[in-house]
Amino acid sequence: MKKAFVKSYGCQMNAYDAGRMADLLAAEGYAATETVEEADVVVLNTCHIREKAAEKVFSEVGRLRVLKAERAQAGLDTRIVVAGCVAQAEGREILARTPAVDVVVGPQSYHRLPELLSESKSRRVVDTEFPIEDKFAKLPARRNRGVTGFLTIQEGCDKFCAFCVVPYTRGAEVSRPVAAIRAEAEAMLADGVREITLIGQNVNAYHGEALGGGTASLADLMRALSDLPGLARLRYTTSHPNDMGDDLIAAHGANPLVMPYLHLPVQSGSTRVLQAMNRKHTADAYRRLIERVRDARPDIALSSDFIVGFPGETDAEFEETMRLVADIGFASAFSFKYSPRAGTPAADREDAIPESVKSERLARLQQLLDGQRHAFNESMVCETVEVLVEKAGRHPGQVAGKTPHLLMVQIEAPASTIGTLLTVRITRSGSNSLFGELLPDAVAA
Ligand code: 5AD
Ligand code: SF4
Repeated sequence: MKKAFVKSYGCQMNAYDAGRMADLLAAEGYAATETVEEADVVVLNTCHIREKAAEKVFSEVGRLRVLKAERAQAGLDTRIVVAGCVAQAEGREILARTPAVDVVVGPQSYHRLPELLSESKSRRVVDTEFPIEDKFAKLPARRNRGVTGFLTIQEGCDKFCAFCVVPYTRGAEVSRPVAAIRAEAEAMLADGVREITLIGQNVNAYHGEALGGGTASLADLMRALSDLPGLARLRYTTSHPNDMGDDLIAAHGANPLVMPYLHLPVQSGSTRVLQAMNRKHTADAYRRLIERVRDARPDIALSSDFIVGFPGETDAEFEETMRLVADIGFASAFSFKYSPRAGTPAADREDAIPESVKSERLARLQQLLDGQRHAFNESMVCETVEVLVEKAGRHPGQVAGKTPHLLMVQIEAPASTIGTLLTVRITRSGSNSLFGELLPDAVAA
C-alpha cells in the first residue's frame, strides 16, 4: 500500500488543513505514516507568518532531497508537496529554489491534490489560485480521531495589519454557511468528538449564511450548534478586538457550552504603535473591552499575542505594553519579536529596532507573562473543575484532559473515562500540567 507523510507547521488552521489533506490522500489509497522514510508522498503544510517559520521549509526540503535520492536508488518514487502559506506566497520561487519539490499547492487549492499529484508525473506543478469553487464541498468526509477537534468556519482576513502576511496568503474573509458547519460538526460528534474549536484567521468576524436565510454572527452560529447531541464544549480562535460584538461577549455569560477562555490578540499596549500597526483600535479601547468581557464572565481566562520591536517602538512605548499586561493579567500568551515580511507595509520601514533590543524586550515581556501564567495555574489548586478527558496520561493509570480554562490536568483514572467529563479537584500545579483527583460521583456526562 502507498503511504503518505503529512507534516504541519504554524497555526491551528494549518493543522486542520493537514488533517483534511491526509483524509484526501487516504481516499486515494494512501495510508498515513509517521515515518518519512517510507512515504511515497510527503506533504509539508507550511507557515509564512514569521521569517523563522518560512526558513524551516527550505531546510526541511533540503533533508527530503537526500531522502528522495536514496529512495530513487532503491527504485522508489517519492513525491514532495509544499502546501500552505509559504506555497501561496512563494509559488514558483519554490520550484526554482528547490528542484526536489514536485507540487506546490496553496491553502485554497488543496482539494485538487490528487489531480496535482498525477499531473506531477509529467511536469512539476504549482497551484496557488483562489478558486471560486468551495474547497470544502470537494473534500471527502472528514475522519476524526480524538475527543477534541478543530472546525474551520471562516478563512482569510480583511484587516491588513501592517506586519501581517495573512491577508495575502489566505486572501479575503470568507465565512462558511451555518448548515455546512452544522453538518461537519455532526460528523465530528458521530466520531466521538466532544469539544469543537471553531477556527478562522479572524473568527469573530464570522458572518455566514444563517439556517433560515440572512446572516449569522459567531454568537448565532454557536447557538445554532448548541443543541447538537454529544457536544459538550465550544471554543473559538482567533479573534480581533474590533469584531468582539455585544452578542459574542454576552454568549460567554449566557451559552453554557462556550468555554471561559478568550484568545484576543492585542499586539501592543501603546496606542501610537497600534496605529502604526494599523490595528484600528487604541490601548484604552482594548482595556474597556476586557472589562466588558469580564463583566459577562468574571472567571474568564484571557490569552493574547504580542509583538515587540515593531519599527519605531520606543522604550517608553514598550513599557506601555508591560503596563497593559500587568494591569490586565493573562492566563497564557504568545509573544514574538517583530519579523519583517516581504510584501507587507511595515517591511519597507527604515526605523527597524536592533535585534539586541528586541531580544531584551521579549525576555522581559515573557518573564512577566510566564509569572502570570504560573499564578493563574496556582490559583486553580484546591478548585473543583470539570475536565474533558482526552487521552492516556503521562503515567500508566493516568488520563489527561483539559479544564474549561484550557489547562491540561493529569488524573488517576481508568482509560474508560476518555471522552467523558469528570469532576476533579486540582491538587497541585506542575510546570506544564495540573494534577487532580477524582471526586466521588465524578462522571458528570
Ligand atoms: N512578526 C512578528 N510576529 C507576527 N505575527 C504576525 N505577523 C508577525 C510578524 N511579521 C504574530 C502576531 C499574530 C500572531 C499569529 O503572530 O502576534 O497575532
Ligand atoms: Fe493578520 Fe490577524 Fe491582523 Fe488579520 S487581524 S492582518 S490575520 S494579525
